[in-house]
Amino acid sequence: MLRQGLLLLAKSRQVKELVTRLPVSSGIVSRYVPGERIAEVVAATRTLAEDGRLITIDFLGEDTTDEDQAEATVTAYLDLLEALSAEGLSRNAEVSVKLSAIGQALPEVGVKLSLENARRICRAARNTGTTVTLDMEDHTTTDQTLETLRELRKDFPETGAVVQAYLRRTEDDCRALAFEGSRVRLCKGAYNEPETVAFVDRHEVDKSYVRCLKVLMAGQGYPMVATHDPRMIKIAGALATRFDRAPGSYEYQMLFGIRTEEQKRLAAAGERMRVYVPFGAEWYGYLMRRLAERPANLTFFLRSLLSQ
Ligand code: FDA
Repeated sequence: MLRQGLLLLAKSRQVKELVTRLPVSSGIVSRYVPGERIAEVVAATRTLAEDGRLITIDFLGEDTTDEDQAEATVTAYLDLLEALSAEGLSRNAEVSVKLSAIGQALPEVGVKLSLENARRICRAARNTGTTVTLDMEDHTTTDQTLETLRELRKDFPETGAVVQAYLRRTEDDCRALAFEGSRVRLCKGAYNEPETVAFVDRHEVDKSYVRCLKVLMAGQGYPMVATHDPRMIKIAGALATRFDRAPGSYEYQMLFGIRTEEQKRLAAAGERMRVYVPFGAEWYGYLMRRLAERPANLTFFLRSLLSQ
């Protein structure tokens, strides 16, 4: 119930106005978002890279409502990729992109515009020696996002996809995506979805996650195991052994600020461990999804708000 309530609030303009009065430096925000500017995310990237962790960077923004906003997001990605290259970090860091942030939802032009914008980001990533992964948003966008991925992969086959284990369709999507050269990030899913399309019971979501993991680990692609759940991490390791996966033929991924010691432990043990690092001023929706996953953080959050 609390999770659903927080995810509904993620869409509220009034609550957003209230919450975004918090500075990004306040504890509850900076735990998950290292900053609003490129310099800050580059500094965080350097620190993560120092102990062998890989990085994927997301410029925060979703629900883009006009073409100027979409263009500003593309520019932010191009500037970021240039900064990573200038700092010698392109081998350590790739980028993650939400199609809604680069125009997918705009009436009439959205699909074409977001594909064209994604192409520009993929080209810049390729030119600087790194890759792009398309984030997955709510279920109404899944088909279109996978279609855009198929189009992008014609010119940029290194482009990665995200699938969400809570969706009933995802095991089939994993089968379709488990081909050679395909990079697939498997997460549990962070949006408020109806029971008609998604498992709502946590145990059912976990069972689906394991089924999807099996398909990806047994397949020919490159699985990216995006979870903080110790049981899922253990099962992923066991499946990699069972399917004779060579080291480096899959990786673990976690979000910035969550289970940092475990991230370091996996990297030190020689695993490929990638951290998803969001940055930018539009951190509200992202923060609300993180709170919904962990309502225990709510007291800390409310205290930060009240002290404003
Ligand atoms: P689960 O929620 O069961 O958490 C397991 C444990 O992790 C918890 O017990 C706790 O210890 C810790 N934990 C989890 N969330 C926490 C939090 N917010 N604060 C503190 N501790 C926390 N989703 C999506 O819908 N589309 C996407 O594109 C992506 N992309 C993505 C990329 C990467 C790299 C990751 C790691 C995750 C995503 N997600 C996502 C989010 C994902 O769907 C999911 O909501 C979170 O990863 C939490 O699920 P867990 O698998 O960690 O399990």
